[in-house]
Amino acid sequence: MLLLFKDLIALVEAALNRAFPEAADAAVQAGRPLDPQLAPASRPEFGDFQANGALALAKPLRQAPRQIAAAIVAELEADAAFAALCLPPEIAGPGFINLTLRPEVLAEEVSRRLADPRLGVPAVAADAPPVVVDFSSPNIAKEMHVGHLRSTIIGDALARVLEFRGHPVRRLNHVGDWGTQFGMLITHLREVAPEALRAADAVDLGDLVAFYRQAKARFDSDEAFQAASREEVVKLQGGDPVSLKAWGLLCDQSRREFQRIYDRLDIRLAERGESFYNPFLEAVVEDLAAAGLLVEDQGAQCVFLVGEDGQPSPAPPVIVRKSDGGFNYATTDLAAIRYRFAPAPQGDGARRLIYVTDAGQASHFAGVFQVARRAGWVPEGGRLEHVPFGLVQGEDGRKLKTRAGDTVRLKDLLDEAVERAEADLRRRLAEEGRQEDEAFVTQVATTVGLAAVKYADLSTNRITNYQFSFDRMLALQGNTAPYLLYAVVRIAGIARRGGADAGDITGPLVFTEPQEWALVRQLLQFDRVILEVEEELLPNRLCGYLFELSQVFNRFYDQVPVLKAEEPARASRLALCRLTADTLKLGLGLLGIPTLERM
Ligand code: ARG
Repeated sequence: MLLLFKDLIALVEAALNRAFPEAADAAVQAGRPLDPQLAPASRPEFGDFQANGALALAKPLRQAPRQIAAAIVAELEADAAFAALCLPPEIAGPGFINLTLRPEVLAEEVSRRLADPRLGVPAVAADAPPVVVDFSSPNIAKEMHVGHLRSTIIGDALARVLEFRGHPVRRLNHVGDWGTQFGMLITHLREVAPEALRAADAVDLGDLVAFYRQAKARFDSDEAFQAASREEVVKLQGGDPVSLKAWGLLCDQSRREFQRIYDRLDIRLAERGESFYNPFLEAVVEDLAAAGLLVEDQGAQCVFLVGEDGQPSPAPPVIVRKSDGGFNYATTDLAAIRYRFAPAPQGDGARRLIYVTDAGQASHFAGVFQVARRAGWVPEGGRLEHVPFGLVQGEDGRKLKTRAGDTVRLKDLLDEAVERAEADLRRRLAEEGRQEDEAFVTQVATTVGLAAVKYADLSTNRITNYQFSFDRMLALQGNTAPYLLYAVVRIAGIARRGGADAGDITGPLVFTEPQEWALVRQLLQFDRVILEVEEELLPNRLCGYLFELSQVFNRFYDQVPVLKAEEPARASRLALCRLTADTLKLGLGLLGIPTLERM
């Protein structure tokens, strides 16, 4: 209903200006045109939209809000274009104007949407600049953990929404593949498992993680080892071929493990690890020095931060070069911002950078974003956004752990979700006395299991910590993937029974029942929700919408006859079924969740 909404805003603004021409002129002169504050209605009783501006206008117009509202309404009622869209407006409370779209306008919107594969969601201009989504980003030689899984799932959903809107999206995997940890790992492996540095596949990621732990322990306790590791890093960063080869093998090993998870979850990512920015680190420091931002503090080169008031901030400074001359995580992120905003071919030419990491990195990003702005790397209109998320907790509210107290491996977690989905499915098939072949069971269990993991993560407000519970995420009731997938299956069944051409209607749609109108209105919100997610980067909004849509649909289907109805109601209702299925499928697809025809 976005286009209708825009049309209405223009009509209501025009009415306001006609009602108060002098004040309107004065307001325009002052650069602050009168605003009727039209917004989607907060409750269905208020119609489709409400104009709340009369209250704020009372003072400048020196009239009572209800009087102002009445004057606007009088103008609206005299306007044929408005009357073609809306029923006569109503004034409520202290001066709100409630607007209700005409039934035939809503029905026509539904018809339009039935013929539109984008379901009313507008596409951005073809030459829109790239958007970077920096997500997943695990670390080489370390296990990919549940925090990375959250980043992967949320980042992928955001990327899908942005892609659907038509933005060229760079899905970047900023893997931790550079830095001191490689010095110690290579030094350690040279002693204990030299084959790992010469041949691919000599060790698996599990071994590598263990070696990494040992190396870290030695690094912290053994000075000679420390010195050797430092030397190794210098060699690596200096491009020594033997070190580079060893490093490459370690990266390949981890990469293969990560890729298994991405393949299972159907995630596309372009790897562009920290090492990519190595050649640009010097230039970062030079730029910052030239901008007069660098300060030496205890031998390190730092940028001190300022608060919103422009005064020095108590936050620790961003260190861009350590006292030993080395660069760090922040330097790399500064180089990445500089590169991503730089026009092609020297950079990505992006206008929006989105970083999906745990909330623990909020101050890191706040710091580097500020430094990037003050360095002048952010172009006009450029946006830098950190998309933080909370911790994944076990059902006891503590950090997620296995029963034995170890960190949970992602592979095991996904396996368990699928196994449990399969057990649930077999139980249900037995109860219903259904015979299905093994291919069906595997396909449904895999889809449901993985969908449950993704949806559980996406449907909570990402900022809060979230409690991981297989039972809850696999439940057939509530705001869960199985519930939504089941709704799609149910509607597919109705369409099958309704005949091959169900929903392909040629005549006008006719709706009479309140349950039908509730469904129509819910369906028509889809475009607005997508634009909201694009703007606010909160996938749980889309989840909430889809859940509500399934509930409104179920109410409609339980209370209004569809297949047994007379024409033209039957065809109109089947059309609503089809549009509901299309909306659920598209919406779940944007969350990275494929749907099923049967389950
Ligand atoms: N590798 C980091 C971690 O595991 C996440 C990197 C996020 N992206 C970035 N540009 N800093 O915590």
